[in-house]
Amino acid sequence: MTNIKAAITAVHGSLPEYVLTNAELEKMVDTSDEWITTRTGIRERRILKKNGLATSDMGADAVTGLLEKRGINPNEVDLLICSTVTPDMKFPATANLISHKAGIRKAFSFDMNAACSGFIYALVTASKYVESGLYKKVIVVGSDKMSSIVDYTDRQTCVIFGDAACAVMLEPTDGGNGIIDHKFGTDGSGYKHLHMKAGGSLKPPSYDTIDAREHYVYQEGQPVFKFAVTKMAGVSLDLMEKNGLSAKDVSWLVPHQANLRIIEATGRRMGIPKERVMINIHKYGNTTNATIPLCLWDYEEKLRKGDNLILTAFGGGFTWGAVWVKWAC
Ligand code: UT7
Repeated sequence: MTNIKAAITAVHGSLPEYVLTNAELEKMVDTSDEWITTRTGIRERRILKKNGLATSDMGADAVTGLLEKRGINPNEVDLLICSTVTPDMKFPATANLISHKAGIRKAFSFDMNAACSGFIYALVTASKYVESGLYKKVIVVGSDKMSSIVDYTDRQTCVIFGDAACAVMLEPTDGGNGIIDHKFGTDGSGYKHLHMKAGGSLKPPSYDTIDAREHYVYQEGQPVFKFAVTKMAGVSLDLMEKNGLSAKDVSWLVPHQANLRIIEATGRRMGIPKERVMINIHKYGNTTNATIPLCLWDYEEKLRKGDNLILTAFGGGFTWGAVWVKWAC
């Protein structure tokens, strides 16, 4: 064991220009701005419209901005992990394409998929490479073009999701800050409530799967909602208890942005007041793997060295988890 911790030393996002508003969705499906805002908290989301652009393009844009911001040459990067549920292709890994597009030539790259918990799973995985002393510059990028798997005739899902990417740089520190601890959980029996029915080895693409609209996100909203609140609050409280942290010690709760009501209920159960809960779902919707780093990016100015952050997510799988980060910048 070393005393080295992995610190987040920079964060940078990429948002497509196109803004899909609730008013525009009202023209596409039987919904209303009032329903969307009161039931989800979402007012608009970004969509990657331009033909030929994919998850890796947003990821590469975020990574290029990150490298510029931190003043790091692409060839100094040791490892890049991309968390995504919307890879450009089934293979190769989108991480490889991001590295290629961002001019990263001396690193190795791979993807991780833990649905909406993917970013925090990738973050902790990356931190272990840094803590071990193996690598000094590791990038984690959460990127999803959710519009490529959302059915814009299904009002239950199309109002929720948006496209975005956001990347963080991890570097070693011995000052006691950085990624301190985590707790993760998985329950594969939950797959039935949130998945994509076809396109994998179980049901390869066919005319039938296309006719049945099985290449889109399938979600049973209510059970997912209940599990999300219970698991995000539960795992965060477990992590805090394990580390002797009380609600007043938590400077910021950084929750996955799936639904404003889930975020508020999680904060309430944890005893964290609203002013210390990061929220940006109104601007971007649920961007799956990008939600948590996008929160860090949006709130960066407010973060202080030594702040205790609890990052928490819940997603398809089911997967869930919480990470304790002591802000290092
Ligand atoms: O990030 C991965 C994890 N995902 C989540 O955490 C998502 C969790 N689930 C949710 O956020 C919510 O369950 C939804 C936003 C998906 C749905 O909200 P809800 O409050 O659970 O609505 P509901 O499914 O209970 O539906 C209530 C009513 C239904 O009508 P009836 O049967 O009561 O007449 C729906 O058909 O709202 C209707 N409805 C809509 N109405 C207008 C569903 N979607 C819409 C819509 N516009 N877009």
